[in-house]
Amino acid sequence: MRILLLGGTGFVGRRLAAQLVDRGHDVTALARSPDATALTDGVRTVAGDVTDPDSLAPAFDGQDAVVNLVALSPLFEPDGGSEMHERVHLGGTENAVAAAECHGVDRFVQLSALGTDPDGATHYIRAKGNAEAVVRDSALDWTIVRPSVVFGDGGEFVSFTRLLTTPYVTGLPGGGKTRFQPIWVEDLAGMLTDCVADASHVGETYELGGPEVLTLADVARTIYRADGKPLRVLPVPMTLAKIGLTVGGSVPGFPMGPDQYRSLKFDNTVTANDVTAFGRTEADLRSFEEYLDEGSEHHSDRRRSLLTRPATLALFAYFALSASLPSLTGSPLAIALYVPTYLLTMFVYDAPWGLENVVYGAESLLGIGHSSALYYVGLLMTYFACAVVLTWLGRSVRSAVGPRRG
Ligand SMILES: NC(=O)c1ccc[n+]([C@@H]2O[C@H](COP(=O)([O-])OP(=O)(O)OC[C@H]3O[C@@H](n4cnc5c(N)ncnc54)[C@H](OP(=O)(O)O)[C@@H]3O)[C@@H](O)[C@H]2O)c1
Repeated sequence: MRILLLGGTGFVGRRLAAQLVDRGHDVTALARSPDATALTDGVRTVAGDVTDPDSLAPAFDGQDAVVNLVALSPLFEPDGGSEMHERVHLGGTENAVAAAECHGVDRFVQLSALGTDPDGATHYIRAKGNAEAVVRDSALDWTIVRPSVVFGDGGEFVSFTRLLTTPYVTGLPGGGKTRFQPIWVEDLAGMLTDCVADASHVGETYELGGPEVLTLADVARTIYRADGKPLRVLPVPMTLAKIGLTVGGSVPGFPMGPDQYRSLKFDNTVTANDVTAFGRTEADLRSFEEYLDEGSEHHSDRRRSLLTRPATLALFAYFALSASLPSLTGSPLAIALYVPTYLLTMFVYDAPWGLENVVYGAESLLGIGHSSALYYVGLLMTYFACAVVLTWLGRSVRSAVGPRRG
């Protein structure tokens, strides 16, 4: 078959393309900026944007089937705001369905997600729910697949969890009780391949999960256990997480917002696992722990928490040392090295809006006068917080200009 994968250069798309090619299909991957080097040999690439119907149309010519894998990650606030979910997931699906109908490409597989609902709590969930309705109402031979969270090489499940947590002791909203049923990307890709090629799946909506249900705390513990590190999870009150993400979401450039808080309130598990529709049982599927213990990504993608990354620690050391150098040596080099730290101290710590006010608050709470020890502790904590933010910014810029994900 000739198969067009919309969003075929993404995490799931790359693995699906590889399996389709293995089974002898002729595959074209469409994305806004397709990178052929990330794809299996033999996969054609074409540039197109699902929000722009004119850029889509040519790619549908002569295809037998389409799989819509275009995505904006629900884990982060998209560039352009949460409304982008409606533009890309809903508007993009409308354009893809219209193009398929117009070009006589009858077979259409829509990759949706567990819990999608037109009346759901987040933009992502609502947009995906409305997109499903567009597919169901079409004249196409459709199949809708709703996986739980997907793990595997190049995915963001492990790296995102690492980003949110620290080894040994970590805080998680509500103690990390949200439940997931992670499915391995290769298992999912195999079932999607069946969906495309086998007409018996037409008109079906499948909920697919992996072999086990894990809470977010279990996921974090499993990741650090595979590193040989224990993890104790401390509950962060949900109200605090709500305030943090709501306030953070209003700061331009902050990567998360209220939707990420809301999504933590809903489990991501199947009611009945439809892997049986593909002749599989849960016992046949790869578990998250097996993957971490044996998987290749795990060894290359052991992303450290932001708090313990070398870049964070190096920046912190730089701020702390450069602050002491001028008084130790007074050399022009020491003074030049101190300039960025000085500016940071003036504008982030000592300014009227600065974090030194927290120290003043602590002093009056403790009923003590001005304490230079508390001043320096506050200063060091400020340097550390700035090092974390700068490392995060550096990472965000790198992932915006370079290849996405691990
Ligand atoms: N990964 C998971 O854990 C998970 C869980 C449940 C459901 N899903 C669903 O599975 C599907 C695939 O997810 P994924 O993780 O593979 O996503 P992904 O890695 O983020 O890939 C998204 C793909 O969409 C393309 N894309 C984004 N915006 C586009 C646009 N406007 N026009 C054309 N292409 C566009 C991207 O390439 P460019 O950026 O170059 O355009 C990329 O090829 C999605 O429907 C997602 O909702 C994923």
